[in-house]
Amino acid sequence: MNILFIGDIVGSAGRNAVKQLLPQLKNKWNPTFIIANGENAAAGRGITSKIVNELYDQGVHGITMGNHTWDNKEIFDFIDEGDRMVRPANFPAGTPGRGWTVLKSGNKELVVINIQGRTFLPAIDCPFQKMDQLLDEIPSKHKHIFVDFHAEATSEKIAMGWYLDGRVSAVVGTHTHVQTHDEAILPKGTAYVTDVGMVGSKEGVLGMERDAVIQKFKTALPVRFNVHEGKWHFHAVLIELNEQTGRSERIRLLRHYENEIFME
Ligand SMILES: [Fe+2]
Ligand SMILES: [Fe+2]
Repeated sequence: MNILFIGDIVGSAGRNAVKQLLPQLKNKWNPTFIIANGENAAAGRGITSKIVNELYDQGVHGITMGNHTWDNKEIFDFIDEGDRMVRPANFPAGTPGRGWTVLKSGNKELVVINIQGRTFLPAIDCPFQKMDQLLDEIPSKHKHIFVDFHAEATSEKIAMGWYLDGRVSAVVGTHTHVQTHDEAILPKGTAYVTDVGMVGSKEGVLGMERDAVIQKFKTALPVRFNVHEGKWHFHAVLIELNEQTGRSERIRLLRHYENEIFME
């Protein structure tokens, strides 16, 4: 079983990258499951039902979110409809949507959990205690468990990797939009990377227009950020799981650029 996980898709540049690249990646790697982080897919802020359906039509099985989950109000109309999208599980009780789900591909099942850090992010429930609770709640027949830990602090993400080693198949970080080069299979079989990286313009600042971001840093005044429409870069990870044990056997970082010649 292998999982292709695509990092934060930012705006139209990111969506175009997925549209252009995914058919080739599917051919090359034949992933059992394709999951994508969609918290920035709609102009950098949240996601719409149209985008969700586009991603599903392109072969994405499930979508994870993050701190930008609620930025596009449309989400309140559809988050409770399907069961293929997850938002951080440690949002307060009663929040719309779900924090974990079971994706299906043929006769295979994969639990997907979205959880959010709380260092340099809004104070929500403890992600570590929430993970304990979820792992008690998820039926033990599920051996294949994928966690998108959406967090800012590298220390919090690394700590979560160790905390969940041997208890889930993979812990991958999202949110900081820059791919880290620390991918590993931890000693008890959990695949780990601090951040998968983003999909969107590589000429902006984390996918947004650079002038506005520079302005904000220089003046400290409120500035509206728009998605940068430059050439894209695409970051993802590919994880191979042992069918029987649910442990990970390999994690590979993927990085592609617009106009790159894709070598077969
Ligand atoms: Fe993001
Ligand atoms: Fe985020």
